[in-house]
Amino acid sequence: MTKKILIVSSSLRGGSNSEILAHEAEKGAIDAGNDVEFINLKGKEIKFCIGCLSCQKTLKCVQKDDMVDLIGKVQNADAIIFATPIYYYEMSGQLKTFLDRCNPLYPQENKFKDVYLITSAYDSSEKAADRAINGLKGWIECFEQSRFAGALVGGGIDAPKSAANREDLLKKAYELGKNI
Ligand SMILES: Cc1cc2nc3c(=O)[nH]c(=O)nc-3n(C[C@H](O)[C@H](O)[C@H](O)COP(=O)(O)O)c2cc1C
Repeated sequence: MTKKILIVSSSLRGGSNSEILAHEAEKGAIDAGNDVEFINLKGKEIKFCIGCLSCQKTLKCVQKDDMVDLIGKVQNADAIIFATPIYYYEMSGQLKTFLDRCNPLYPQENKFKDVYLITSAYDSSEKAADRAINGLKGWIECFEQSRFAGALVGGGIDAPKSAANREDLLKKAYELGKNI
């Protein structure tokens, strides 16, 4: 069955390693016959959640920025892959802001089920992504139809574009996408 897969790449830098891995997952997901949309947070205006909670009644955010369009993509997806650089052993601030701004979805019926995380970090330990994975799991826990479906921990990659030389990670990313 064709699935609608949304990929959200959150690194803002050129030659992003997490983005390279996310594109490899995209190839795998396309090869498996899915309908895939890749969105990049570069150049997007996504303000911080201000915590007013009016979205819990109106199902809309009071802030009018790029999230108006992006939240609809989250809502229509069957599965989501988030990609983030590891910053201070956590997910990037821009990914956290994106997740917070999905708060209008909290009181609604949502479709997305399997949620994946792709990370990139200088540190080569698998543990480097533990806090980012835990943070994403907290978000997933608040959407009862969804589940954490897996992570690709890209370790030992620091300079821009260095993920392009890591056949091991590229292969794992492709497989992640292919097996959704
Ligand atoms: C603000 C900042 C914080 C970082 N913190 C960590 C860290 O805690 N652990 C680590 O291994 N790498 C850390 N890094 C390195 C990045 O995770 C690494 O360069 C990664 O490949 C960047 O991914 P990207 O190219 O997708 O942006 C940090 C980089 C920046 C800019």
